[in-house]
Amino acid sequence: MSAPAPIIIVGGGIAGLAAALAAAPAPVLVLTRGPGARGAASAMAQGGIAAAIDPGDSPQAHAHDTCVAGSFHNDRAMVDLLTGSAGDAIEWLQRQGVAFDRDADGGLQFGREGGHDRARIVHAGGDASGAKVMEALVAAARSAPHIERRAGLEVDGLVLQGGHVCGVCVTAADGTRAALHGRAVVLATGGIGGLFAQTSNPADADGSGLALALAAGAAARDLEFVQFHPTAMAVHGLHSLPLLTEALRGAGARLQDAEGRSLMEGVHPLADLAPRDVVARRVLQACRDGGAWLDAHRIGAAFPRAFPTVFQACMERGIDPRFQPIPVTPAAHFHMGGIAVDADGATALPGLHAVGEVACNGVHGANRLASNSLLEGVVFGRRLGHLLRALPESGAGTGKFRLLHRKPALQAGEMQRLRALMMDAMGPVRSGDGLQAALRECDALAASGWQAALARELVAAALQRAHSLGAHFRSDDATTALD
Ligand code: SIN
Repeated sequence: MSAPAPIIIVGGGIAGLAAALAAAPAPVLVLTRGPGARGAASAMAQGGIAAAIDPGDSPQAHAHDTCVAGSFHNDRAMVDLLTGSAGDAIEWLQRQGVAFDRDADGGLQFGREGGHDRARIVHAGGDASGAKVMEALVAAARSAPHIERRAGLEVDGLVLQGGHVCGVCVTAADGTRAALHGRAVVLATGGIGGLFAQTSNPADADGSGLALALAAGAAARDLEFVQFHPTAMAVHGLHSLPLLTEALRGAGARLQDAEGRSLMEGVHPLADLAPRDVVARRVLQACRDGGAWLDAHRIGAAFPRAFPTVFQACMERGIDPRFQPIPVTPAAHFHMGGIAVDADGATALPGLHAVGEVACNGVHGANRLASNSLLEGVVFGRRLGHLLRALPESGAGTGKFRLLHRKPALQAGEMQRLRALMMDAMGPVRSGDGLQAALRECDALAASGWQAALARELVAAALQRAHSLGAHFRSDDATTALD
């Protein structure tokens, strides 16, 4: 008798592994591009996980902050699901072995980040939250008998049977190709920061899963909403930049220009803790005017212990952040849009599911609230895993099999051109003229590679939205002014 077809999960970040673990005992095959989960953007997350678990806090207050950050473009039912499940998500993570940071009295420590009306960010290893969470989930997945993991495979096609997705096409590093059959396929491939010249994501967070789903006819939602983190470390010539967590500003760090003048005083009532899009636009302007720096000397001697990841990244580049300001730049950080899904991760294509950053169920609205992304991965990943474990062993499709491949990838030079174009036209400040020009360039490149075809969809969505909303800021919208 042949083995039952597994649930195929493409991507080994927090959403993919949460889904894989929750699907037990159904067999799961997790496919990753790189050598494993270490390269996933989840492992690079610094701030932590927002959860209203302090007795004085409430899921409603967390939901309110989420909707304010998202410019009320959010799907309120998804927001309530997210914030109402946060306590359970933290308990589940602790059961998987995550040791969150605690006070001297043993209680969970809560950090504060921009957009939150109080301290509610649970963190681990100081600013190493993503790494600690991923360490625990990878270990849990390794010891779970229902999960098989295969690394180093590029998923570049889908297998369909009668319009039903029932597998994936993969290419190994040596060029060997194969089709793998599954009872369902889950895309958990992360975001699109790699399409921009500067990103806080790993370079291979390039929208591969989103491009695949769109090529197969899945619906997209809110593609124009891209969040830029205001404080990536400015390192000349580097594409994937070290993140300087917003929690640094929560702990007293301040943005300044070359003369040491505050960048945020007088710009927004919350100054350095203003919404990310406001800070990102101010930092972008300062970078154009001569540079922007984060002065973190107020954190003082506590720096190495409280922010070990940032401390190491600075020291490796000859900057001691206890005494020297750190040069910063905005960087593409998070995609609020993605493959349109419902609360259960179902896409418009039967058999195809999506979860985490690649998906869009409307939870983040037009701008994601800080530290809601790992939470999204756990809450919606587990929900999807529970649902998939009840699926029958063979897919519902009948008839002929059809292989649907994505276009080939762009050449390195074309990719560099595309990244510069996206940073310029689709960055923190956009205009109709810039977007029109970008659309023409993407059209010219689209036949050469799938990344340009995907970028075209993002640019077209941004052109469609003539007014500023959340992270989508149009300088030619007369109703909004530059901060
Ligand atoms: C940060 O630590 O500043 C980023 C956290 C997030 O994007 O939620």
